[in-house]
Order: sequence, then C-alpha cells, then structure tokens
Amino acid sequence: MILTEVQGRAGVIRLNRPAALNALCDQLMGELGEALGRFDADPAIAAIVLTGSERAFAAGADIKEMQNRRFPGTYLHDFIGARWEAVLTVRKPVIAAVAGFALGGGCELAMMCDLILAAETAKFGQPEINLGIIPGAGGSQRLTHAIGKSKAMEMVLTGRMMNAEEAERAGLVARVVPAESLVSEAVALAEKIGGLSAPAVAMAKEAVNAAFELPLREGVRLERRLFLGLFGTEGQKEGMAAFLEKRKPRF
Ligand code: CAA
Repeated sequence: MILTEVQGRAGVIRLNRPAALNALCDQLMGELGEALGRFDADPAIAAIVLTGSERAFAAGADIKEMQNRRFPGTYLHDFIGARWEAVLTVRKPVIAAVAGFALGGGCELAMMCDLILAAETAKFGQPEINLGIIPGAGGSQRLTHAIGKSKAMEMVLTGRMMNAEEAERAGLVARVVPAESLVSEAVALAEKIGGLSAPAVAMAKEAVNAAFELPLREGVRLERRLFLGLFGTEGQKEGMAAFLEKRKPRF
C-alpha cells in the first residue's frame, strides 16, 4: 500500500491506496512504519518525503475498519497507538508533501511530520465530528498549536476544510507550490538538508519539536544544551572556518 524510492538524498514514501483515497488502514500504517524505519537507518538518506497521490494525501483513518469497533476493546487494543506514531520516532527530517485531501488521520499524519509543503490543490480538515467522533491521532492538539484556538475549534467542531492558501496564511504549511512540482520541491528541500552538518540537522529538528512538548523554560534549556554540544562537532568547525575563509562549507 506504499511505494518507496530514493531520489538523491531523499527517501520518498508514497501512500498508494488509490481506491480508498489512501485511507489509513492497519496494513498501510504497518507498511509505512517499516519504510520509515528503513530510511531512517540508511546513512545515504538525509531526509524523508512522505506524499500521497494528486487526489489525496490521505482521507483519514479507514472508516470501514473502524465501523464495528467497540469500547472497551478500542481502549484495550488501542488501534492508533504506537503504529500511528512511528513517524514521531524518526530522527531525520520528515517532509509531508500534501496534494488533495488531508483529512482526519491524514491531516494528523501530515502534522506529525516535521513540516508540510502543500500543493495548491491541498485541502486540510478534521471532519471526524461528522462521524460522531473526534480526532484521535493528535489533531485537536497539533492543529490548535499550529493555527490557534479559534480556527482549530471551528474546524474540529464543524469539519470545515481549509484550502492550501488559508493553511499557509494560518501557519499550518511552510509553503504552497504548484501541484506538478510538489514532490520535486520536497526532494530539493531534502537535498539541501543533506548538504548540511548531520548533527546540527538532527539537533535542530529535536529543538523545534520540543517547542510543542515542553514549557518555554525547559525548551530553552534543551536548546542551550544542544547548541553548546554542537561546539564538539566537526560541522561547527567547518561551518565557521568556511564563513571566515569566504568559501562554501564542506560538511
Ligand atoms: N475510510 C475508508 N474509505 C474511504 C475513506 C476513509 N476515511 N475516505 C474515502 N474512502 C473511500 C470511499 O468509501 C470510496 O470508496 P468506494 O468507491 O468503495 O465507495 C472512495 O474512497 C472514494 O471516496 P468518495 O467516493 O467519497 O470520493 P469523493 O471525491 O466523493 O469524496 C472525500 C472525497 C470528501 C475525501 C470523502 O471520501 C470523505 O469525506 N472521506 C472521509 C473523510 C473522513 O471523514 N476522514 C476522517 C476519518 S476518521 C479519522 O481519521 C479518525 C482519526 O482521527 C484517527
């Protein structure tokens, strides 16, 4: 249910379940977790690009699979759980390249990535309320952090979708690009990251993500420790020497 390919330093993972608009069923999430783990462990890969089709990044958790689930079985065998959060354990930057629908779990999966690039066709939403449920893979929290309470509340309460332009204005996505160049733009970003100092990249990712989880004071402390630790890396020596020698750094 997924396709993988290597493009330069980017590991590209494409969700590939077109008949169900990439609905995130158990099998797909299992395959996604394996692919993420494989690229994360591969030293040739600098960053991972996660994308879907032109029509859908992913239309959410699989409603057919969920329909007959019952409590407390849902609680005892949490079907979201670690399987859905595999992307959060990846050490390398993960770029979501979103075209078409990113709804429910699809929007949540995109928000678990480190940044979102959107095609002009992208549509984001948390329509779970229309199914008699609420977001279950972090949507109520990550969307609120990303776009603020009023907009998130409106989307979660009504299921209203946001187009790419509004998502960029609201700060949900880093950039909007033409649909035809979505993946190549994401790969270019991965290439750019691949040319930088790997420890600095890993620590930059850790520091920014900590802003979502730690109080300000703790986050700043973590940042300071990481920052000071980078003075033990060759990347810092090379980066600063190159600047002062007016040449490009070779990391
Ligand atoms: N689960 C299972 N199947 C889905 C699906 C989903 N989330 N989304 C779409 N599909 C299937 C449809 O059932 C349909 O299959 P059939 O051809 O076999 O009937 C196929 O994909 C194409 O979908 P549509 O015919 O509905 O396409 P459309 O263009 O008319 O509408 C859409 C597109 C607006 C995205 C619509 O499919 C839709 O509303 N999908 C559901 C979106 C949703 O509610 N997502 C939240 C799921 S709950 C969740 O994610 C929980 C969580 O937080 C973890």
